[in-house]
Parts: sequence; structure tokens; C-alpha cells
Amino acid sequence: MSQSRRNFVRTIGLGSAGLSTSLLTGGGLAVTAFGGVAEAAAAGDDSGIIRLSSNENNRGPGKAALEAMQRAMTPRLGRGYPPDFTADLVDAIAERYAVDRTAVIIGTGSGPILEAAVHAFCSASKPIVTAAPTYMTSENMARRLGVPVKSIRVRPDLTLDLDGMADAATGAGLVYLCNPNNPTGLAYSGATIEQFVRRVKAASPSTAILVDEAYIDYAHDPAIKTVAPLAMELPGVFVTRSYSKAHGMAGLRLGYAVGQPDTVQAMPKVWQLGSMNALTAAAGIASLKDAAHIAAEVAENARIREFTLRAFKDMGYAALDSQTNCIFVEVKRSAAEFRDACAAQKVQVGRDFPPYEKTHARISLGTMDEMKRAVEVFRRVLSAPPARPSAQG
Ligand SMILES: Cc1ncc(COP(=O)(O)O)c(C=O)c1O
Repeated sequence: MSQSRRNFVRTIGLGSAGLSTSLLTGGGLAVTAFGGVAEAAAAGDDSGIIRLSSNENNRGPGKAALEAMQRAMTPRLGRGYPPDFTADLVDAIAERYAVDRTAVIIGTGSGPILEAAVHAFCSASKPIVTAAPTYMTSENMARRLGVPVKSIRVRPDLTLDLDGMADAATGAGLVYLCNPNNPTGLAYSGATIEQFVRRVKAASPSTAILVDEAYIDYAHDPAIKTVAPLAMELPGVFVTRSYSKAHGMAGLRLGYAVGQPDTVQAMPKVWQLGSMNALTAAAGIASLKDAAHIAAEVAENARIREFTLRAFKDMGYAALDSQTNCIFVEVKRSAAEFRDACAAQKVQVGRDFPPYEKTHARISLGTMDEMKRAVEVFRRVLSAPPARPSAQG
């Protein structure tokens, strides 16, 4: 940051607010293909580390979202009870799904909603049904609360074991179903998820079902569809969506759920979903309406995914057909060994995902430039024999 910019930031008192100076200074900065400001992208203070560990979106928000925040940078930010744009954001999401605004709840990320679901629908006598491996926020909250966890291992082809999950669901408080699934990247069609949901609801009408669609924008198989309409039809069923993936807004913290009002409104009654802010809400509205940007982002992610999958295939390593912005690769050594060797060469990859931590690593997809550099690191790391070759965990 130049001295004059630093002074400017200090003068207006936002230096510690974590806001990009590019947003504050506005014009004159090169805008990248994805609307990110080139300077901000280059300024990433990761000490030269390529971060492919958290399924973030290294291209960031689109231009419309950045500009919406820029426009919102006015003295109106002094108002906050409620913050500007938050009601409009709920309306915009409701309009997108053609539902009443009471069928939508928003949170500072979808994470707090995944936690709230456990508080609202589970208890010591009402277990959560989840998968292994899958995203852990709901399960972690259940364990903290002493809620019994029924964790159903994925099938040998790493797809979710829907039969096993349906069997376990009878009498459960909540089923957590991540589609597409993190970390495998695999997904079922909308029709298959609908069949599963109807089966569970028929056998166990009081069981709530959360379908986490954080990655669904990235799915390349057209049969993979949101089940939001089904959520509107059936009580106790809801979908969650995150702005942290295709919308590139993880740092702005925004997510939402859609379902029947009685279902979704049960969650903020029992658990705080965060305190929304006006800039995030303004960006959320703009990004939701920026279909062209999301299409370009999804196409760019697909191009990078194909490049990275091809590179692993050429190296002789199998990876699953991902519908997300991460890939799950059988690296034929422990995730820890692979992770440490990559970290030594400044590439950070994902944590352990039991029961596959002895054989598979999750690699988030960064920008094309990052992946070209990361692939060279993967090539060097994998060219060394594993310290301890391991069988499937
Ligand atoms: C499947 C899944 N759901 C939800 C989240 C939470 O996202 P956020 O709280 O940023 O919306 C993540 C984050 O990685 C995720 O992978």
C-alpha cells in the first residue's frame, strides 16, 4: 500500500476494518476478468503461500459486488439497527426462489445456520445423521451439545450412502446431506435427492433434513439441481447456500437457508445467526443479480478443474469427478505427509478427512496461475516415494 493510501485509510478511520483499500480509493485500478481489483489480488499477504486448503474462491467477488460496496461507503453506514440493505437482501433471495420473504433466513455465512439446525432439531434423544467424510460444522456442534451422531460412511465409490443414511434417519432429529459433498466433490442428481428426502419423510415425518448446497453452482452435470422447491413443499426440509464459493465472498460472511417459514424460522429463535452488515448485504444483492459473472466464474473454475484433474491423471493419480471447486485425490500416501511436503514448498492443501486420511488429499482450486505453479509442486512431491505407503483407511 502506498504511503498516501495508508494515510487516506488512517484519515477516514477504516484502517483496521479489513476493507480493501482498492474499494476505498475507487477508480484508476485495473479490474481483472473476474471483477477483482488487480492490486488487491496481487497484494494478498500470504507470504508467497498458495492457499488451496479451505475451498475459498481466490478470484474473489465480482465487479458488481465490489462496486455495490463502494457505493454503500457513505455516512449511512452509521445506521445499523437494522443495517441498510439487509431487508432488501432477504427480498432479493426470496424473489430469486419465488417464495415469501419469511421462507428465507440469512446468516453471516451458512456455517451459523448449520449450527442452528442442530440446536433447533436435535437433542439427546434425537440424533443427527451425517456422512463420513463430509463437512463437519453440524456434526461438531452436535458433539459439543452431547447430541448422538450417526455418521454413515460413504460407499466404496465415495458417493454418499443414501440407503444407509435413510435407514439411520428413522427417529433422528436432523439429517445433514451435503450435495455436492465436501470433500469428495461428488453429487447426486436433484431427482435422487428428492427420492431420498421423500423416503425419509415418509418413514420419519418429524425428522428435519438439511440439504447443504454450498457448491451447487459449480456442478457441471445438469442433472444436479437445487431441491429448494421440494423444501417449500415439505415441512422440516430446507436448503442452505453459501456466498463463500461461486460468489467469492467468504471474507464478507454471507449464507442463507430456504424452506417453509415454520421450518427455517425455528433456527434464529434458538441460535444467533450472526450480525449482518450493510456492505455485505449490498454486495450480496448485487452478486445475486450478476448472473453473467457467476456464469463466467463457474466456467473459469471448470477450466481450472479440468487442467488440474488432467495433470494428476498424467502423473498417474486418480481423482474423483468433482462438481465443486476442490478435488479429492488418491495421493497414495497419508494426507499429512502430502500436506507437509507441499507446505514445505509453499502450497497449502486441505486437512485430514477420515476415514480417507491415509490415502486421499483434498486440494482446493485456486486461480489458473496458482494451479500451474501448484501442479509443479505436486509433481515434485509425488515423484518421491511415500515414506509409508498405506492401504485404504
Ligand atoms: C459444504 C459446506 N457448507 C458450508 C460451508 C460454510 O461456508 P460459509 O459459512 O462460509 O458460508 C462450507 C465451507 O467450506 C462448506 O464446505
